[in-house]
Amino acid sequence: MSRKKIIAGNWKMNTTVEEAAALAKDVAAVVGSVSDVDVAVCPPYVNLMAVAEAIKGSNVKLGAQDVHWEAKGAFTGKVSCAMLKSIGVTYVIIGHSEQRQYFGETNETVNKKTKAALAASLLPIVCVGETLDERNGGKMDAVIDAQVRGGFEGISAADAAKCVVAYEPVWAIGTGVTATSAQANEAHIFIRKILTELFGKETADTIRIQYGGSMKPDNAKELLSMSDVDGGLIGGAALKASDFAGIVQPK
Ligand code: PGA
Repeated sequence: MSRKKIIAGNWKMNTTVEEAAALAKDVAAVVGSVSDVDVAVCPPYVNLMAVAEAIKGSNVKLGAQDVHWEAKGAFTGKVSCAMLKSIGVTYVIIGHSEQRQYFGETNETVNKKTKAALAASLLPIVCVGETLDERNGGKMDAVIDAQVRGGFEGISAADAAKCVVAYEPVWAIGTGVTATSAQANEAHIFIRKILTELFGKETADTIRIQYGGSMKPDNAKELLSMSDVDGGLIGGAALKASDFAGIVQPK
């Protein structure tokens, strides 16, 4: 089964509008004509429009870092799917571990956001992953199982096929510690097994599973060569166009 790789840059809470536009231009210059890999950048909300302009005409797609599930109304501080769609957003990261850790994201809110995104024709990047304590305590499988089943509850196979899953072990995010390619692949195979139970083999085999957590140009090639690693969700290394390019097209 060959799945087209997908590399997405998660810029997190970095870049002013000028910095975002400049970085997006640089990214478009180095990987804007790549067509054998799907490439996306996910800047902060306030920079989405500037980045949309900067990547116009390139193959780089726009992603957001979060979304609210309600359509509109009295939800101060929140942004809806329709708002994102209206400015050209394609992907939306949902359930990032920082959202889970600091901002009360649960498997239930991940599920609501994923359903809302799909209904609005946004493509969800659903994040899952265990903490170091959970891994060391032997709870890794149970945690990931609950995150995948909870996040995808009530979603049809046809809709699930539009989603990307990002496996991001929390202990590897921003720490410089990367999961070994074997550890990453083992987790991805486990996630695909759950997806197979939920949606059947045909669908599960088409869903792309990204690895995230200190992915860099010098470890990307090995990680991306694994059977079930279908791309990367890149934090730190996405903030420099040349590093990002080195992951999109690793040497
Ligand atoms: P990192 O972040 O590449 O800086 O580890 C990845 C992520 O959190 O998406």
